[in-house]
Amino acid sequence: MEVLKTINLTKTYGTGNARVEALKDANISIKQGEFVAVVGPSGSGKSTMLHLLGGLDRPTSGSVIIDGKDIYSLSEKERSIFRRRKVGFVFQFYNLIPVLSAEENITLPLLLDNKEIDKAYIEDLIGLLGLKGRKEHLPNELSGGQQQRVSIGRALAYKPSIVFADEPTGNLDSKNGREVMELMRLSVQKYHQTLVVITHDLDIASQADRIIRIEDGMIVRDEAVRA
Ligand SMILES: Nc1ncnc2c1ncn2[C@@H]1O[C@H](COP(=O)(O)OP(=O)(O)OP(=O)(O)O)[C@@H](O)[C@H]1O
Ligand SMILES: [Mg+2]
Repeated sequence: MEVLKTINLTKTYGTGNARVEALKDANISIKQGEFVAVVGPSGSGKSTMLHLLGGLDRPTSGSVIIDGKDIYSLSEKERSIFRRRKVGFVFQFYNLIPVLSAEENITLPLLLDNKEIDKAYIEDLIGLLGLKGRKEHLPNELSGGQQQRVSIGRALAYKPSIVFADEPTGNLDSKNGREVMELMRLSVQKYHQTLVVITHDLDIASQADRIIRIEDGMIVRDEAVRA
C-alpha cells in the first residue's frame, strides 16, 4: 500500500541572483512499512525535500499525497492537525521542551489534541526506548542519546503513518547513534510504520530497504538495497 506520493515536487528559494532551485520535479512513491534512506551532498536539497514531504513547508509547485490526501490543498490549520496525527518528525537537535519531563514531551502531541492517551501503548513505547527509569527527568537531565530517544517517542506517540528523520544520529557518537537508529527501526517495524531518514552515514543507509540519492535538487538514484 502506498503511504506517500509526490508529483513533480519543486521548491525554489529567493529570486533573481539569490534564486536557488533546491528541489526539481521530484517524483517518489513510498509504500507502507518501507525504510527509506535519503543521501546526497551538503546543500543538495535533502532537508528541503523532507520538510516538504512532512508538510512543514510549502512547495513552489507540485504536490505531496499522504494516505490519499493532497496535504497542500489543506488550509494551514488543517495541515497542522493532519501533521500532528499522521506524521512524526525526529531532528538532529532533539527540539524537546525544556520544562517538560521526558514522559510529558512524549505525550505532548496527544495533549495538544485533547486526545485520550493510550497508556498501555505509551508505556510500551517508553519501555522499548529504554526510558522507563527516566520518565520524570527533564531534557537537561538526560544524555544526548536519551534525549533523542525521547524525541523518537514523541514522534511515535500518535502512531503516525510515516516518520521523517533528518540526520537523527548526527549529534551522537557512533555507539549511541547506532543504538538510536536500531530503536527507531525496531519501533517503526513493531508498529507497522514507515520511515524516511536523511543520513550521511553509509552504515545506516545500507540498512535501509531503499536509498534515494539527491544531487543538486534532483533525484539521481532511487533503488532497493540488496539484502
Ligand atoms: N530558507 C532558505 N532560503 C534560501 N535558500 C535555502 C533555504 N533553505 C535552503 N536553501 C538552499 O537550498 C539548497 C538545499 O538546502 P537543504 O537544506 O535542503 O540541503 P541539504 O541537502 O539538507 O544539506 P545538508 O546536508 O547540509 O543538511 C541549498 O543550496 C540551500 O542553501
Ligand atoms: Mg539538511
